[in-house]
Amino acid sequence: MKRDVLTIGHPVLRERARSVDRDELASAEFQGLIDDLVETMRAASGAGLAAIQIGVPVRLVAVEVSNNPRYPYKPAIPLTILVNPEVTPLDRSTIVVNEGCLSVPGLRGDVRRYRSVEVTWTDRFGMPQSTEAHGLTAGTFQHECDHLDGILFVDRLTDSRSLTSWDNFKEFHEGAFLERVANLTG
Ligand code: NI
Repeated sequence: MKRDVLTIGHPVLRERARSVDRDELASAEFQGLIDDLVETMRAASGAGLAAIQIGVPVRLVAVEVSNNPRYPYKPAIPLTILVNPEVTPLDRSTIVVNEGCLSVPGLRGDVRRYRSVEVTWTDRFGMPQSTEAHGLTAGTFQHECDHLDGILFVDRLTDSRSLTSWDNFKEFHEGAFLERVANLTG
């Protein structure tokens, strides 16, 4: 079932989401929450969605990128369900990524992210998983995991003057952004 996405100003978005334990993860209710999260993400063409954004402050994130109309330039990421995810930078190098968020309707802006990260999590079946991510994909994981600590991309803007509407991003800024990130892999 598709759920409503909370938008900026809703106090739940500023909470620190709580960890999920094994029994809760295995419950029918939690598995249903995962299905709803995926359905809601896909219906809104999100590249990712955190459970806190649908009003459930638990450490659960869905990520999926596949010809995304909001972010046509993003490399594909298969559907990934992350429970209790941890993001660890692999080194100190950073990139500036232009981001949007379903909880911040209408706006995009520049955010500094680690260029390469290791992500570890538990999948929906309770199995430990990990991956290394780079570039835009690393940024996607960092954005989604920020939600679990009550952080929105607007908190991390490199410059508030980088905020744009989606139409103006496309018209005035997308070309330069794509040139800048063209050499980032994955
Ligand atoms: Ni977001």
